[in-house]
Amino acid sequence: MANSPILSGEPFSQEKTHELAEQFFRDGFVYIPGVLTPEEVTALRDKTDAFFDDPELAERTNPHLADVRYIQMGSHANSGETLPFILRNTIELDPIFRDMLLREPILSLAEAIVGENCKFCGQNVLRNLPGLSISSWHVDGSIHFPVSDEMPRHDPRLRMPVMWFTVQMALSDIDTLEEGPTQYVRGSHYSGRGPNTQENPEFEGNKPVSIFCKAGDIYLQDPQCWHRGAPNVSNKTRYILQSQYAAYWAYWRFNLCNGVPVPEDALQTADDRLLSLLGRSRPSE
Ligand SMILES: [Fe+2]
Repeated sequence: MANSPILSGEPFSQEKTHELAEQFFRDGFVYIPGVLTPEEVTALRDKTDAFFDDPELAERTNPHLADVRYIQMGSHANSGETLPFILRNTIELDPIFRDMLLREPILSLAEAIVGENCKFCGQNVLRNLPGLSISSWHVDGSIHFPVSDEMPRHDPRLRMPVMWFTVQMALSDIDTLEEGPTQYVRGSHYSGRGPNTQENPEFEGNKPVSIFCKAGDIYLQDPQCWHRGAPNVSNKTRYILQSQYAAYWAYWRFNLCNGVPVPEDALQTADDRLLSLLGRSRPSE
């Protein structure tokens, strides 16, 4: 990419791509070291810091937008103060973030997981200052395929469908538990349930594993696999860039249809249930 600090990169071989995708389908996550260069990492961190420090961007983040655009407020564990720590919708902010969507071998891995012609469905940077994290165990969104009480789990012969997933890209070294690594419970996307406990959840003998990584390493995450960011109790700031990719059908069904234009005067007079159903809100809200 001309003039971009982000390289085009190369896909992995077909065999390696297949092997990584299979590991992802089996475990619910896969760790891939050494994908981004130190120069790319530095450029992404510098941009992130500049946006977090930009008073104009903070200004645009008025109370109405705070939860859904640019910056979500989190609680600072040490002081009780609230601080921004997620930079949202980064593709609007700078070409460097858009270039990251095309970076290989990331895009070809995304296609191996959610299918060809996959679509962008989110990009954020998490900047966890010391003491700051979302440290409760969870799945992203809801349980997509819940089992009944009588069912111990999903049949291991199934491949659990992946409608969308997250590529996590470390922009700082995370070498110790104190630095707040992402943690996963292997295979838990087959449980059909949320985490069985907040204290060391376990699935069929699999205990939490921590992703210790260097800046430039990436790891892929099934949103249904139990996970958390361990609390960052070090004195280092933790940076993670996340890109999310969805299956084409989901884009058509959930994104494109929500964007079908409705005349402005019809929106003005529409009742609240229709607006809510269409995913719109009144301009004044
Ligand atoms: Fe999550």
